[in-house]
Amino acid sequence: MNAAPFVPERPTLSSLRRTMQDCRGCPLYRRATQAVPGAGKRESRILLVGEQPGNDEDLTGKPFVGPAGRMLDEGLEAAGIDRSAAFVTNAVKHFKWMAVEGKRLHKKPSAREVSACRPWLTAEISVVHPDVIVALGATAAQSIFGRAFRVTRDHGVPVDTTLAPHAIATIHPAAILRQRSAADRERERAAFIADLTIAARLLRSATTDARRQTATERGRG
Ligand code: URA
Ligand code: SF4
Repeated sequence: MNAAPFVPERPTLSSLRRTMQDCRGCPLYRRATQAVPGAGKRESRILLVGEQPGNDEDLTGKPFVGPAGRMLDEGLEAAGIDRSAAFVTNAVKHFKWMAVEGKRLHKKPSAREVSACRPWLTAEISVVHPDVIVALGATAAQSIFGRAFRVTRDHGVPVDTTLAPHAIATIHPAAILRQRSAADRERERAAFIADLTIAARLLRSATTDARRQTATERGRG
């Protein structure tokens, strides 16, 4: 079982948002409040993919609004990427959690759940058709680039994919927040910003290519 039978044939962002709520492609819908679709404009040239909604995202229905979202915003700003011009989504659309002392704690989705949910992600990518895809962390990177991908080894290096002209992976913003010492946090934060800065450069080069193309076409016309 996977999400494919639930995904509309000719999706739009609003039809995806709506139909996603009825997905039964894996068991995760049972314990979540709602499916959390990607957010951002269809015209976004950059699309960022996280792992799955957290507690705050599950309650609000919006991706990256909690602590990891604040870390992401900070990274994007430092790299000169405007979040309002970015499409932000997740590899898995329902919150997977376990109860610990009355709190709902994030639980890593299985490879099977990630794979079941991939049709929603590929549908969002096909509607937005971004110039640059950024995978945030191992779950997103393996969903997009395959199971052999290793973020620790391959982050910050442009990856070939048929999904977009440019793609890159970096660490998950929550991984920065999990570091115990200030020094470790600072090191991970710097690596995150460095990777996002490469993504920003890819984005600018894609925009320049598109302008050049238009100018050439105009020249021909
Ligand atoms: N972590 C994620 O991967 N995605 C969110 O939307 C929030 C936290
Ligand atoms: Fe469907 Fe994905 Fe939710 Fe599983 S996690 S029920 S595949 S939307």
